[in-house]
Amino acid sequence: MTQTHVSTLLSTEQIAARVRELGAQITKDYDGRRLVLVSVLKGSFIFTADLCRAIDTQLRIEFLGVRSYGEGTSTSGVVQITQDLSKPIEGEDVLIVEDIVDTGLTIAHLLELFRTRHPASIKVCSLLHKPARTKIEVPIDYLGFTIEDRFVVGYGLDWAERYRNLPFIGVVEAK
Ligand code: IMP
Ligand code: MG
Repeated sequence: MTQTHVSTLLSTEQIAARVRELGAQITKDYDGRRLVLVSVLKGSFIFTADLCRAIDTQLRIEFLGVRSYGEGTSTSGVVQITQDLSKPIEGEDVLIVEDIVDTGLTIAHLLELFRTRHPASIKVCSLLHKPARTKIEVPIDYLGFTIEDRFVVGYGLDWAERYRNLPFIGVVEAK
C-alpha cells in the first residue's frame, strides 16, 4: 500500500504533545470527579486511546457509533446512530471525544440527544476543528488544533475507510 501522496500536517510528536496538554487540563478541571468519556466512532478511536491515558482521574469509556458521511468527502447532513452507549449517562459528567468538528452537525445532534438523558454535565473535546466549514456553532470545551479547510486523514481519520492507521495527520495530495 503506497502512502507517499499524503503530506504531513501534524506530526506524531505534535499530536502527542497536545494530547498530553489536553489530558492535564481535563484532569485539573474535573478535579477528582468521575468521568464518562464518550468516544465517537470510528474516527476518534485512536485519539480516545491516547487521551484517556493522559487523564488522571477515575473514568469509564463508552463508544458511540455515528455515521454522518458517505464514501466520499462531503457531508450528507444526516447523522445516524449505528451503535448506542452501553449504559445510561443520567447524573454523570460526560465528555464527548471527537476526531474533528467540521460542519458541527454531528456534535450539535449528539448534544441534543444526550441532553434528553439528563447527564450532570456535558462537554466536548475535539482533536481538530475546521472553522471555515461551520454550519452550526457548537461549543468545543477542549480543542487540539484549528486547521484550514483541507480534507485530512490519519490518526483515526479516514478517506473512504483508508488511512486511519497513519500515525500522523496529513493531507491527501491530488497526485
Ligand atoms: P461534521 O458533522 O460535519 O462536524 O463532521 C463530523 C465528522 O465528519 C467527523 O467526526 C469525521 O468523522 C468526518 N470528517 C469531517 N472532516 C473530515 C476530514 O477532513 N477528514 C476525515 N473525516 C472528516
Ligand atoms: Mg468523527
